Amino acid sequence: MERTLIICGSAGRGGVTETMCQTAADAIRSRGQDAMVVFPSEMRIEHCRGCDSCSNGPCVIDDDMHRLYRLFAESDFLMLATPLHFSGPSSLAKTVMDRFQTYWHGKDLPHPIAMAGMICAGSEHPNFEPTVAIMKAFAITTKMKWMGHLEFPGTDVRGDQGVGEEIDGFLDRLYAIRETIPTSRIWPPNSAGGE
Ligand SMILES: Cc1cc2nc3c(=O)[nH]c(=O)nc-3n(C[C@H](O)[C@H](O)[C@H](O)COP(=O)(O)O)c2cc1C
Repeated sequence: MERTLIICGSAGRGGVTETMCQTAADAIRSRGQDAMVVFPSEMRIEHCRGCDSCSNGPCVIDDDMHRLYRLFAESDFLMLATPLHFSGPSSLAKTVMDRFQTYWHGKDLPHPIAMAGMICAGSEHPNFEPTVAIMKAFAITTKMKWMGHLEFPGTDVRGDQGVGEEIDGFLDRLYAIRETIPTSRIWPPNSAGGE
């Protein structure tokens, strides 16, 4: 059974980002697949120090990121959810992404096949582009196919109203794209002839 790891990038619990994550997880499970939501806000995750130790070994920072690395390695798909903060991802979501610098060094580390993003924002016409660009750079670095993203603007007025319908439509699009991806996750990487 394929598993989607959903990372909730809001620093607070019970907000729109969490609703998007829990709604997506429920919808994925109702389609017969496994989904797991994780909350970095409840984990101890330090900033990447750029020390470069990960160029020839695991990250030397001893914190909860190592649990996330393991879940990441064991998942088939990733969904990264964040509120828009000054047109970027939340600092928490960015901190998590930065800690994947170990993948930048080109090591053969296990990773999900593909990822998608979910972004909510307060205003009616937010600028999602910087966040989408950062998420795509993250997908490239971690060697995941980019499947697309969901924009959920206007939360200042509507809160989480309409999240269910948006997630359903988004998942329909993702499942259609999934059909076009021939490979399944290879673990250990390259053991079956490369990714
Ligand atoms: C520090 C901060 C910066 C924000 N920057 C933006 C922004 O640039 N554009 C926007 O539309 N909303 C912005 N917002 C609003 C949030 O994106 C919005 O309230 C979102 O729904 C919060 O989700 P959450 O409750 O899951 O954290 C900002 C909120 C905060 C706290």
